[in-house]
Amino acid sequence: MLVMAITSKFSLSTRWTRPPRAWALSEWALLPLRLTLGVTFTYAALNKLANPDFTNFASPNSIQQQLLGSIRTHTPLAPLLGHAMGAAPLLGWTIAIGELAIGIGTLIGLWGRVAAVGGAALSFGLFLTVSWHASPFFTGADLAYFFAWLPLIIAGSGTALSVDAWVGERAAQREVSDPPTLVSIPFADVQRLCGNFSQGKCSALDNGACSSGACPVLMGSRRPLDVRRKVDHVDRRNVIVGGAVALGVAGVSAVAAGATATIGGALAGKSSTTTPVTINSGGSSGKTFSLGLASNLAVGASATFNIPSSDEPGIVIHNPDGTFVAYNAICPHAGCPVSYLASSQIIACPCHGSQFQPSNGDLIGGPSPTGLTALTVTQNAAGELEVTA
Ligand code: FES
Repeated sequence: MLVMAITSKFSLSTRWTRPPRAWALSEWALLPLRLTLGVTFTYAALNKLANPDFTNFASPNSIQQQLLGSIRTHTPLAPLLGHAMGAAPLLGWTIAIGELAIGIGTLIGLWGRVAAVGGAALSFGLFLTVSWHASPFFTGADLAYFFAWLPLIIAGSGTALSVDAWVGERAAQREVSDPPTLVSIPFADVQRLCGNFSQGKCSALDNGACSSGACPVLMGSRRPLDVRRKVDHVDRRNVIVGGAVALGVAGVSAVAAGATATIGGALAGKSSTTTPVTINSGGSSGKTFSLGLASNLAVGASATFNIPSSDEPGIVIHNPDGTFVAYNAICPHAGCPVSYLASSQIIACPCHGSQFQPSNGDLIGGPSPTGLTALTVTQNAAGELEVTA
């Protein structure tokens, strides 16, 4: 008996039912989360759209190099990414536009659950590629973003600062203002449904003053609670109005995305940033190989190359003081290729922002557990740079 009692109590307390007024949890409590995710995804999209190197294969910051990094480090989606390499620019733009749609939808609360599902899917995909090797695991943000989307999938956009709520309220007002249909009901039924009246008191209202408001079969100043439209109600009117708003927002976003890409391209054209060149490593003798003439690399410039022994990318930098340094370009955090930013004279990782000292590869900041692996670079009698890896 005791076991049965415990079992029945346990099953009662753990049954999978939605709490009453669950939607109300999203009114204000989830607003900071919604705005944070909305701003983050919008910013991430604009960052990609404004970066002219995003689809430039030669740039270490490009989508192609990030995909190659995931393939090289054998992330779970590496076999799929191998097939996607041919369409990498298309994939990159799709991700950027998707992030923009998710970010704006979340910010203004438009089709909130759809945006949240998209955000969760994108975050999980990035976790399985870009963040898979992040160590410790909590330094990779994508897993945290995935879980941050889940409350918004469950609760939706909520009722605060939300286009979804505005559309729902508009539809509800129109529904309430529809002319009521009059039907005749036996008075006995009215008494049964609404309570007995006695000397102006109503038993259905705890013997309070009679009022038609609480009775589902009498006209009153407001509709009875059980037939009023729920905030999450979905019907044809909601979908049409929401779809019209979504189309308008998509048009404005497309214009903003195009303007961002144009301005980004124009600014990059005027920028003094040195685009790193890729040089082919020459014939190798043992683990030493040639990068070609040192004079080909201007002071302050950098170049990437392939390390024959490991098939990993390397980076060589011609420092302003005339010296040359070379490193394995794989970021120790999660395997993305790093790049040299000549304007700020640091080596940076595009994936999670780790920064390294060009002079010795030491970690300046960011989630990377260590600095870069240094390679020995020397200049031979013929003026060629030789790297030993
Ligand atoms: S891969 Fe995460 S900071 Fe470089």
